[in-house]
Amino acid sequence: ATNRTFTMIKPDATQENHIGGILSMIEAGGFRIVALKKTLLTAERAGEFYAVHKERPFYGDLVKYMSSGPIVAAILEKDNAVADFRTLIGATNPAQAEEGTIRKKYAKSIEANAVHGSDSDENAQIEGNFFFGSEEQF
Ligand code: CMP
Repeated sequence: ATNRTFTMIKPDATQENHIGGILSMIEAGGFRIVALKKTLLTAERAGEFYAVHKERPFYGDLVKYMSSGPIVAAILEKDNAVADFRTLIGATNPAQAEEGTIRKKYAKSIEANAVHGSDSDENAQIEGNFFFGSEEQF
């Protein structure tokens, strides 16, 4: 069934003018953009977004990094959106990302890995609603 996922273009990729390149790969991959915005997360908001990782050793750095510059948030729609988007972006660690994936092309490190992708339908909905009201989703 057609469903939704959520993505962020992270500060490294946004800073280096890869917004258009990444959105092009997303649309070419068959995803429809339901909602889109460029915004800056405060450390508090970034911490809230990544609260599931609170106990992980990389949490502090992740929050600092994700609030270090603007990000682009988007809700995407496609059949099998969550799984297909994770295939399109590639492995979290770009050293392990497959050829042709967004992270292979644009990610610099496991932290500055260009894009986020939701890991479940439930999280896709929570994460999308974290950034967008229903009046911003089409
Ligand atoms: P993301 O898909 O946004 O979800 C959590 C993020 O934490 C992940 O992408 C990485 O950017 C980051 N992350 C995951 N594992 C590590 C790690 N071992 N070291 C540093 N950052 C990590």
